[in-house]
Formats: sequence, C-alpha cells, structure tokens
Amino acid sequence: MKIAVCEGDGIGREVIPVAKKVLMHFLPDADYSDIFLGYEKWEKEGCACTEDDISAMKGSDAILFGAVTTPPDPDYKSILLKIRHELDLYANLRPVRGGSFDIMVVRENTEGLYSGIEELGDERSTTLRVVTRKGSERIARKACELSADRGFRKPLVIGNKANVLKSDILFRDTCIKTADACGVLYKTMFIDALTLDVLMHPERYDVIVTTNMFGDILSDACGYLTGGLGMLPSANIGEKYAFFEPVHGSAPDIAGKGIANPVAAIRSAAMMLEHFGMKREAEIIEECILRSIISGVCTPDLGGSAGTGEFGDRIFECILKRES
Ligand code: NAI
Ligand code: MG
Repeated sequence: MKIAVCEGDGIGREVIPVAKKVLMHFLPDADYSDIFLGYEKWEKEGCACTEDDISAMKGSDAILFGAVTTPPDPDYKSILLKIRHELDLYANLRPVRGGSFDIMVVRENTEGLYSGIEELGDERSTTLRVVTRKGSERIARKACELSADRGFRKPLVIGNKANVLKSDILFRDTCIKTADACGVLYKTMFIDALTLDVLMHPERYDVIVTTNMFGDILSDACGYLTGGLGMLPSANIGEKYAFFEPVHGSAPDIAGKGIANPVAAIRSAAMMLEHFGMKREAEIIEECILRSIISGVCTPDLGGSAGTGEFGDRIFECILKRES
C-alpha cells in the first residue's frame, strides 16, 4: 500500500508528523513517500504544486495532507482546488462529533462557487457558480450511502439556498430525486437557518449534504461545537483517489510556536484507516484523543498548556497501552 504525505506550510509541518506517527503505527508496512508543496515551494521554485506532485498523489492509495498558505498574488490559483479537480475528489466528508451529537457534513467539492471561473476587475468582479446535474447526483448518492451506513438515524438534510439561487434549484431537486430513488428520508433547509439550528441543536442532525462553499462555511462553523478548528478532520473522496486533511489552514499566527492542536490531523489519519476498513483502530485513536483531553494534557486552544509534541505523545502512549 502506498501513502503520500504532504505536510504543506505553517502548522501543517507541526501536526502532520504527529499524525504520520500514528498512521505508521497502524500501517507499519505501507510505503510512505513525502511530497513537498505549498507557499514555500512557490517562493523557492515559482510553482506551488507541479505535475510531478500530482502524479505522485495519483500513484498513491491515499494521501495525508497538512495545509497550505495561499500566496498574496491575485494570479495564484489555489492548489487545493487544483488537486481536488485533478484527482476528482468530489466528496468532502467532514464529521463533527461531541457528547450528544454525531454529524457528517457532506460537501460537494468540485463545482459551485469554487469552480474557478472568475474575473477580478477594479470596478466589477465576478465568480460563476456552476452546479451540474451529474455533480449534484453523485454527491447526493454519496450522502445517501453514508446515511444508510450510519443506520438512517435522522433524515438526510439537503442544505440549499434555492429561494435565491437558480443554481441551487437544480442542486436541491437533484438531491431530492436521488434520495427518493435510494429510499432515503430527507428534508430540505435553507443554509443560513440550517447553520444556526445546527449550532443550537446539533443532536437533531445526522448527514447534511450541501454545495461547495456552503459546506465549507457550515463545517468551519461546526468547529464551535467541538472546541475549535484544531479538532476537525476531513476526507476528500473520489472514484479513484482518497485524500485526508484537517479542516484548518496553515495558521500563520501560531506557526512555529509548537502549540498547534494535532487532533484534526490525527483524526484525518484515523479517517484514512477507516477508509481502509480499519474501523476498530480508528475507534482506539478516538478514545485515546478523548482520554488525553480529559486527563488535561492538551494544547492551549483546548484550555491546556501542552505543546503539539506532548499532546501527541500522550495520545500515542495511550494507543500503545490500548494495543498491548
Ligand atoms: P486557519 O485555519 O489557518 O486559522 C484560523 C484560526 O484558527 C487561527 O487563529 C489559528 O491559529 C486557529 N487554528 C487553526 N488550526 C489550529 C490548530 N490545529 N490548533 C490551534 N489553533 C488552530 O485559517 P486562516 O487563518 O483563515 O488561514 C490561514 C492560511 O491557511 C491562509 O493562507 C489560508 O489560505 C490557508 N488555508 C488553507 C487551508 C488548507 O490548506 N486546507 C484551509 C484553510 C485556510
Ligand atoms: Mg475552510
């Protein structure tokens, strides 16, 4: 099995080594390769992500990714968008879990407002929001599958803004048709009211499917429920490739201080294990994360005083104990 690891920039370099150590513990025989990309590469080489980097990702069974800084250049195109397009990672799965809730935000990852069709002008700038039937159908099918895997605990929620956006009429109606065809109970909600209600009553939700930018914002907002961005993992899944990364970015404000929370990265590694069918191992990791936090060994964002390494070590020691 081949696993590509890209730390990226900023705190990606601090949290990914911790997550990689956990991954290597459970998959000691996998073939690991490191890919260097991001802002620093752009500064040094004039290109943040080369075709070779993309080929290296395509040659892997899964990719663990940190975060990249977006260079201050209006001509620069996000490399994450490039990677998501090139690998056709159409489903961005963002779980949000807490004591009384377990939500899965299923975000369409290749079109919508992030289609990359835009123009920057001095007086007028435009971004085209593209929604296709094919794109909506496949993300809706993925959400229906997840809803079934999770035991149809609650109706599938279709987050949209079809009252204002024509493109969301196609999205909403395609999701409804797909849910009907799959025999999945659903309800539709407008994304703004939905976001508030998820924060107020997270226990009412299970799987939420929505378009690209709405899913981006909704999942970051859900960080409020779990102790911040340092806690949220994600998986980017396509027909062929699988890419795992924390929801957070490179956090330049704390990079280099050794205080970044490694949980989002470790949970992303756990999602990779689950993707490979290693559900029990993922559960052990989750249990050890919670134990470490309860014991008070955690980073400042969670109210503790441990550094990234100490927090990671505590989680790792717990894993070793649980395993023996
Ligand atoms: P960010 O997620 O990097 O940081 C937002 C806030 O959350 C900051 O105060 C940061 O210190 C805190 N934070 C984030 N992760 C944390 C962690 N693990 N532990 C403790 N605190 C944490 O988002 P921001 O500031 O909007 O973007 C910074 C850079 O990252 C930008 O260049 C942006 O383009 C990029 N970015 C990259 C992403 C990716 O590669 N997937 C995703 C989001 C942003
Ligand atoms: Mg985001």
